[in-house]
Amino acid sequence: MSTFPDSNSPERMHIADQATIDVILKYVNERLVLPEAPVDGLGNREEMKAALEGLIGSGPKDPAEVLGIYEKYLADTILSADSPRFFAFIPAAPTKASLLFDMVVSAASLQGCSWLEAAGAVMAENQALRIMADIAGMPESAGGTFVSGGSAGNLSALVVARDTARNKKRASGESLYPLAVVVSDQAHSSIQNALNILDMQAVVVPTVDGRMTHSDLDKALAGLDVSNVVAIVATAGTTNAGIVDSIDAAADTATKYGWWLHIDGAYGGAGMLDPTKKPLYKGIELADSIVMDPHKWWFAPFDSAALIYRNPQLAKSVHTQDASYLDVIHADAETEFNPSDLAYHLTRRARGMALWFSLAVNGLDAYRDAVVKGNQLAQYAAKRIIRHPDLELIREPDLSVVLFRRNGWNAEDYERWTQMLLEKQIAFVTSSAWNGETIGRLVFLHPATTTEMVDQVIDTLETIVLD
Ligand SMILES: Cc1ncc(COP(=O)(O)O)c(C=O)c1O
Repeated sequence: MSTFPDSNSPERMHIADQATIDVILKYVNERLVLPEAPVDGLGNREEMKAALEGLIGSGPKDPAEVLGIYEKYLADTILSADSPRFFAFIPAAPTKASLLFDMVVSAASLQGCSWLEAAGAVMAENQALRIMADIAGMPESAGGTFVSGGSAGNLSALVVARDTARNKKRASGESLYPLAVVVSDQAHSSIQNALNILDMQAVVVPTVDGRMTHSDLDKALAGLDVSNVVAIVATAGTTNAGIVDSIDAAADTATKYGWWLHIDGAYGGAGMLDPTKKPLYKGIELADSIVMDPHKWWFAPFDSAALIYRNPQLAKSVHTQDASYLDVIHADAETEFNPSDLAYHLTRRARGMALWFSLAVNGLDAYRDAVVKGNQLAQYAAKRIIRHPDLELIREPDLSVVLFRRNGWNAEDYERWTQMLLEKQIAFVTSSAWNGETIGRLVFLHPATTTEMVDQVIDTLETIVLD
C-alpha cells in the first residue's frame, strides 16, 4: 500500500511519495526494456467505461490501483506507434535516450520559452536545431524552435511567409487580397488547413507521378496571374508515398517570382541523413523555412517538430507576443532568439531537449544508420512485392513508404486484411489511395523492424482467405 499523504494540507499533492515514485518508475522501466513494444490496439468502449466509472472522486485513490486500471483497461488499447511492426500512417521510433531525457524534461518541468527563463534549454535546443540546419545546408543565420508537430510548424512558417510578403506588398501599394500559396496535389492536409486558417488560397499544381517537377510547375503556372502568390511549398517526402518533390524546381520558381520557399519535411526531412538519398534534396539549402519532425524520423518522442527559418528575425517580427508583463523577456533578446517568439505559441515545453540529448549520446552516425535501415526495408518490401504474382508495386519508393496493389482486392478486402493483422498482432497496416484506387501502404521507420517481420506481413497477402 502506498504512503500517499492523506492529510488535508493544501500541498498534499506536491509531497513526494516514494511508493508512487517506485511504482511508476518500475512500470516505466519495464516498458523501456521491452525487446519489442507490442502492437496493441482495439479497445472495448463499454469495458473501459465501466473500469473508469467513479475513478475520479473528491478524495484520493491509491496510485498503484489507478496505475493498475491504466495497465489493465487502457494501455493495451493504445496502438504502439513505436512498435517495429507499426507500418501505418507515419510511425514513431523514439530512441531510449530520448525517452529517458523526456522524463527529465517532465520531472524537472523544463520549459523553453525565453532566454531569460530557460537559457540552458534554449542553448541545447538551438544546438540540435543547428545540427539539422547544417544537414540541410542552411546558412549560419538560420534558427528556429521546436513546436508540437508538423501541422503547427507549417502553419507558423506560412504565417511568416504571408506577413513578410504582405508587408512588402503594402509598402508598394499592391493589392493584398486574396493571397495564395503554390502547393502540389500531394501536399499534406495540414497545408490546406493552414491556408484555411490564414485565409489564403491554394494554387494546386497537378503532378504527373506524385513528384512536383519543373515541368509540372511550368505547366500549372503558364498563363496564370500569380501576382497574389506569396509562397511555394515543396514536400520532402510526401506522407502518402514518400516522394521528395523537386526542391530545385520549387527553389527556381520561388527565386523567379520572389516567393517564400517552404519545405515540408515533417516526415522525410531526415532522409537527408541517408547519403544515397541526399541528392534528392538538392535546393533545400535555399529554403526560407523548413519543418522536420523529431517525433517521426528523427527518433524522438511525441510531440516535437523542428521549425527552422533562414532569417529568424522575420519570424520574430511576426510571432512575438506583445504584453507588458512580457517586456522583460525581450529586454535581452538580442543575444539569442526566444523560442516563444518564433512560432504560434507562448508557453512551451522544452520539447527539443529529448532530441538534443539523444543526438549527443548516440552520435549522428547512429541516426544515419537508422534512417538507412528504413529505406533498405522499403527496398526489401518493394522487391518482394515485385516478385509476388498477385501484387504490383505502384512506384519505386523514394524513401521508406511502399505502395502496392493486391490484384482483385477492393477497399473492404484491405480493411479486413488490416483487422486480421491487428487481431493476430502481426502488424498494424492501413490502406491508402492512389489515383482514386484503394491500395496497400507500408511505412518503415523503426530500425528494429526485421525482414522477417516484413515477410510475415507480405506472406499473409499470399495465404489470406478473406470470406
Ligand atoms: C509531410 C507531412 N507534413 C505535415 C505533417 C503533419 O505533422 P504532425 O502530424 O506532426 O502535425 C505530416 C504528418 O504525417 C506529414 O507527413
